[in-house]
Amino acid sequence: AASVVYEAESAAIGNGVVESNHAGFSGTGFVNSANAAGAYVEFTVTGAGDTNLAFRYANGTTIARPATLTVNGSTIETLQFAGTGAWTTWDNETVAAVLAQGANSVRLTATTAAGLPNVDALTE
Ligand code: GCU
Repeated sequence: AASVVYEAESAAIGNGVVESNHAGFSGTGFVNSANAAGAYVEFTVTGAGDTNLAFRYANGTTIARPATLTVNGSTIETLQFAGTGAWTTWDNETVAAVLAQGANSVRLTATTAAGLPNVDALTE
């Protein structure tokens, strides 16, 4: 399937803000979540059956920022979002998932008090 980019700054944000102070992001910015468990970014992704979800992110710390991935409320797995070396260094964390036809809610929820990494976009 053709890849579609969903920008985090256009997603639903729980306990976070859109910023643009670290270069290298796509679109107009990225989401900086609060440093808090439960902070989330939720993308609305048009369904395509078996697919891959690539989350583009930066984590300028040396400590992973784990987040639970849910699709339509069902947990897929916890992604680790390891350190990328700098807040301006963006990497992809990719996971296989199955989407329903139509609109799917694809949510990353921080599991630790560090919150999410900075989240730039989801490519599906
Ligand atoms: C720094 C950085 C932010 C980042 C934050 C964090 O403040 O500038 O972009 O989100 O650290 O640790 O989450």
